[in-house]
Amino acid sequence: MEKIIDLIKEEVTDAFVKAGYEEKYGMVTVSNRPDLCQYQCNGAMAAAKQYKKAPIMIANEVVEYLKDNKLFGDIQAVAPGFINIILGEAFLSEYINSMAKDAKYGCEEAKNPMTMVIDYGGPNIAKPLHVGHLRSAIIGESIKRLGKFLGHKIIGDAHLGDWGLQMGLIITECKKRNPDWVYFDDNYEGEYPEEAPFTMSELEEIYPSANAYAKEHPEYKEEAQNATFLLQSGKRGYKALWNHILNVSVNDLKKNYTKLNVEFDLWKKESDAQPYIPDMVKYMKEEGYAYVSDGALVVDVKEETDKKEIPPCMILKSDGATLYNTTDLATIVEREKLFHPDAITYVVDKRQELYFEQVFRCAKKTKIIGEDVKLTFLGFGTMNGKDGKPFKTRAGGVMRLETLIQSITDAVYEKMTDRDMPEEEAREVARKVGVAALKYGDLSNQASKDYIFDLERFTSFEGNTGPYILYTIVRIKSILTKYKEKIGKEPEAFPILPAVDESETALMLGVSKFNDMIESAFVEHAPHKVCQYIYELSNAFARFYHEHKIISEENEKRQQSWIGLVTVTKGILETCVDLLGMEAPDRM
Ligand code: ARG
Repeated sequence: MEKIIDLIKEEVTDAFVKAGYEEKYGMVTVSNRPDLCQYQCNGAMAAAKQYKKAPIMIANEVVEYLKDNKLFGDIQAVAPGFINIILGEAFLSEYINSMAKDAKYGCEEAKNPMTMVIDYGGPNIAKPLHVGHLRSAIIGESIKRLGKFLGHKIIGDAHLGDWGLQMGLIITECKKRNPDWVYFDDNYEGEYPEEAPFTMSELEEIYPSANAYAKEHPEYKEEAQNATFLLQSGKRGYKALWNHILNVSVNDLKKNYTKLNVEFDLWKKESDAQPYIPDMVKYMKEEGYAYVSDGALVVDVKEETDKKEIPPCMILKSDGATLYNTTDLATIVEREKLFHPDAITYVVDKRQELYFEQVFRCAKKTKIIGEDVKLTFLGFGTMNGKDGKPFKTRAGGVMRLETLIQSITDAVYEKMTDRDMPEEEAREVARKVGVAALKYGDLSNQASKDYIFDLERFTSFEGNTGPYILYTIVRIKSILTKYKEKIGKEPEAFPILPAVDESETALMLGVSKFNDMIESAFVEHAPHKVCQYIYELSNAFARFYHEHKIISEENEKRQQSWIGLVTVTKGILETCVDLLGMEAPDRM
């Protein structure tokens, strides 16, 4: 469906043209004075300069052509030259009726769908998921869902960190503790055991202790570096062990991501990009992009317009080792080969911004990716504790994601102890509401901003919170159930009549903006816009519901119309909640 603002714009533009002005002046925006009007056009002011006429005269001429137009209930030229617009009630309700009939509530599928790889999550294997990985997963998931909803081909890739020193450290520590494991027997030629020799919780203990030990013992660190090198060169026993680390970790990660409603299309790993490195390096050298500086192989990426120094992008260290950069560049080569994407978006901590700037420039300069492929870095801020510092456990450690989810779920459960609900259902509801509290608390902020994790506020059933939005959906569900009981059957898709008063108009206006909002939330990679929208829509619903007794309404047609309106409202809220990666319970 065409967006309502575009329908308005077309009429206004048409009127400008009829009145003898250029069509560009027919621009319409949502009113910034909602107390006066719903939409406005300021074009007469701009046209005044070109046509050397008083803006109010132009506005008056244009309004003449629009006065009897059915789209408008009231359209006025106001000094010094604004055109204030209030929509016709019948036009608005007709628009809502069309939305109600559409599976996507008026959102059109993209005419030219694009292929976009979205690199998010970015967990590292053998390390527990911690809150630092939370934001990437939550934000990335939502952008992925928005894109898919709009009909784009979106490929969400977890891009596992599986290729660094952490692997060598784990292998070295395992060897120190269990030198007799078959993985360390160089003469062994048989098959390696299928079952992993450790559990996830053992791995989670092994890695930090190896890491700490390496800091104090250089010879141990050297051994770990050597183990990393041997693994990367394909040593059989180490590869087998690494495979176990990978499988155990990925199973655990999947469990955790599922709890967050985060689902990747791809579980590619840094190691998958490694085979592309030799050819890529050779190409960069042969084409003269890469040169040796202080023993290292680098590509210059600074540009004349730079305000700050952008260091060269290092491709190989002086000992020939590859780096995080090298892997990211090779991953671009791989993605180009496998998917020919139109865009690649990275949802990563904003502290990696300069790093990605180097990688993007290097990729474009060396032409490993086409000039037309959009590379976007969506950097997010830090989740802080109430002290304004990065969120930690009480003991000052890094909090595991699992623990965080549990604590927020428990907090919600506590709030619901007075509910008349079987224990099992209450637990399940608390889980859904808890995850929504956490995700909404995050997503309602602009991604690049830091925010404070506030358990009390996030789990509140009132205010701009996830639970409040879910509660609105639950309230509408209960109205619909009551109505169904009253009429003794499933309600049909009733026609929605023109609004009877201000609060109903406000709810319809909110509903009508859905398609426009979704499109900009995706294009701008801004899930916070979805949050803001559903918060306002929930408030509009609350006001409408407060002023209208739907179930006891005696005028049948009116009652049916309201049932229709709240049904669309519910559908939109549910759609948005799903696009944010949350779920609404039936009651709470
Ligand atoms: N594993 C990395 C980390 O924990 C994040 C990966 C981000 N994505 C990328 N393509 N570099 O910091």
